[in-house]
Amino acid sequence: MTVSLSRRSLLGRGAAGAAAIGAALAPAARARECGALAPGRKESLYGPDPRTAHLVFNENPFGPSPKALEALAEASTQGAYYQGKSVAYLAEMIAERHGVGPEQILITNGSYEGLTALGLAYAKKGDILGPELFWDSTALFVENNGYGRIVRAPMKGKLEVDLAALEARVGEGTGMVHIVNPNNPTGRLIDPSELRSFCTTVSPKTMVLIDEAYIELSDDPDGNSMMDLVRAGQNVVVARTFSKIYGMAGLRVGYAIGPAEVIQRAQNFVVSSPNVAGISAAIASYDDEAFLKTSKSKLLQARQMIMEGTKAMGLDPLPSQTSFVFVDVGMDADAFRARMAEKGVVIRGKYGEHTPYSRVSCGYAEDVKRYLEAIPYAMEA
Ligand SMILES: Cc1ncc(COP(=O)(O)O)c(C=O)c1O
Repeated sequence: MTVSLSRRSLLGRGAAGAAAIGAALAPAARARECGALAPGRKESLYGPDPRTAHLVFNENPFGPSPKALEALAEASTQGAYYQGKSVAYLAEMIAERHGVGPEQILITNGSYEGLTALGLAYAKKGDILGPELFWDSTALFVENNGYGRIVRAPMKGKLEVDLAALEARVGEGTGMVHIVNPNNPTGRLIDPSELRSFCTTVSPKTMVLIDEAYIELSDDPDGNSMMDLVRAGQNVVVARTFSKIYGMAGLRVGYAIGPAEVIQRAQNFVVSSPNVAGISAAIASYDDEAFLKTSKSKLLQARQMIMEGTKAMGLDPLPSQTSFVFVDVGMDADAFRARMAEKGVVIRGKYGEHTPYSRVSCGYAEDVKRYLEAIPYAMEA
């Protein structure tokens, strides 16, 4: 569907969407002045403004896979019906790959929904303990709605998760530990053997949730994953998503793998059922190794461009094992974002007190190039 949308009509669609849309639209509107559409890009109701270099939400523009698109077309003909066998089928696929039972899998509309369900279920027991910086949207959902509280442990070095600091805070009042590995927004990976020993010590006292949304982008996904602890029956849950390496953020499929009783407990807090469109695409692309290889290699190529390009300008990017980079730009990241937006480059603003750190997502090479070219302008601010 090709459309032309006014800011007014979009903002008329409700407060929740308005915040997100508003954030993207201001730079997009400016970007219109920045020139014509690049070849292969078109104006659409779906996806970002094609005139911008959209490097903000850690989406993966190289997806969905061709097999997923084919499956979507077939599934759409059955759109009249609820999920049928499809969700159980995907759960079987995931369970088989990981050597667990299907009752240990919770499939939701994006991992956001499963992470929120886990947060709601365990905040009843006590605090959600996490590092100072992690992808805390679902924990904040719990906290902001008065269902629980986040307790944050300080980080160490250059924004590394400090497992000792987390462990020191585990106590009677802890409901769960929430770790993202590799972490968002920092992009940093926790040493897997240290994390394994942390989980082994802490999980008898409290459930440990490891959000592995970006694990496939790391150098050794299997070695870095805590799935072996789930298989071993520890009180550990691993969350994964089809939004990142599979390039299906808009199709909303994620899953959690853990002990059956934990999964059942979280299931009680899930309010909707998965959508057939997303499930069909997930089933079709789950084992599509050729697509996954290409997807990873393109994202890592973009990551390398960002690392090398920013370093060449004297900036300090943190090492990343994800599809984004946290760059110390040496100025307020909100001011940096605003200047970049003037050039049609859409990135994240600052996180908390870490004002000079600016997060940029991996994407099309031409967009990363545009990001790098706009940096000197942004830094004149
Ligand atoms: C670490 C992490 N976990 C989970 C999510 C949510 O992903 P989704 O709900 O699309 O599966 C995100 C999204 O950016 C993320 O960065």
